[in-house]
Amino acid sequence: MAFLFILPTWPVDVWTAAMKKVAPDIDVRVWPDRMGNVTDIEYCAAWLPPPDVVKSLPNLKVIMSLGAGVDAILKDPTLPASIPIVRVNDPDLTGRMTEYVVLHVLMHHRQQRRIDENQKRKIWDSFPTHAAKDLRVGIMGMGVMGMDSAIKLRDIGFPVAGWSRSRKSVAGVESFAGADEFDAFLARTDVLVSLLPATPDTDGIINRATIRKLSRTGPLGGPVIINAGRGRQQVEADIISALDAGELLAATLDVFATEPLQLDSPLWSHPKVTLTPHCAADSDPETICAYVAGNIRRHQRGEKLDNLVDRNRGY
Ligand code: NAP
Ligand code: GLV
Repeated sequence: MAFLFILPTWPVDVWTAAMKKVAPDIDVRVWPDRMGNVTDIEYCAAWLPPPDVVKSLPNLKVIMSLGAGVDAILKDPTLPASIPIVRVNDPDLTGRMTEYVVLHVLMHHRQQRRIDENQKRKIWDSFPTHAAKDLRVGIMGMGVMGMDSAIKLRDIGFPVAGWSRSRKSVAGVESFAGADEFDAFLARTDVLVSLLPATPDTDGIINRATIRKLSRTGPLGGPVIINAGRGRQQVEADIISALDAGELLAATLDVFATEPLQLDSPLWSHPKVTLTPHCAADSDPETICAYVAGNIRRHQRGEKLDNLVDRNRGY
């Protein structure tokens, strides 16, 4: 049995070293030049695999993502339909995302960018502040990541609601489900966080119409969006025009339709945008390789794979 990394845009040697450290017994191969005999390869981990590579592995049993999302794998139009795909659900990855979401909700809540600007100009401006209980946070996507962020924000004191396909039951967190309840969810939300996966249903969901439906009665004087899901979910021109029109107060964006973000994107220098380079929850090589190796061993023992992706739903 051999395991193959197909990581055209990642530092594959770092991942190979990590896998060798946490699972020295696994025969690790690397696409494109260290594949060896392809008939040995039964497992692969891929991120943006070029077309036909996965398809060319005759004895492949499982395709693994090295992150929570699988859109970068499903982009391959030649992906064999019958091979299961598994994704990562690990406390390290989830904890990193929760840190990011809590950091940026608090940054907007405490108006830290205004304070930074004042410091630069030596302005002592002790403007009125508000309590967490007055700022309503709404999280789109109440899966592994959304749920953990919701609980931590609730514990700080924010009124939190989540929106997902199916209804959730979490103490102290209001649940909205499905397209029918989307508008009601937006209407009660001052800070909108997206932790949705990229699927045809979520493409472009953060658009001008969505922004216009957000609450305008919150203590910041306008709504805020935080997108750490996927860039395909945001219509970047709509975000900029909503910011410029005063319909949106501020945006934190970690993900973009094109990554790296093009140098001529107006988002880079927009005064109301906080931009981070898709680093909300980085996959730590050793932690994730240990997770992947665990799933391989589970599969080899004939046990159920952890976190199997539903290819029809796309996540
Ligand atoms: P997950 O456990 O699969 O959760 C996905 C959530 O989205 C579920 O609650 C699901 O609803 C909901 N959802 C999906 N399609 C929907 C739709 N059309 N309408 C309403 N709700 C919908 O995924 P996760 O582990 O939390 O990760 C979420 C995403 O975060 C990943 O797919 C990835 O894109 C992103 N991510 C980003 C970074 C980063 O660094 N920026 C890092 C890690 C992950 P149900 O619960 O009803 O199924
Ligand atoms: C990163 O974006 C992930 O999907 O884990």
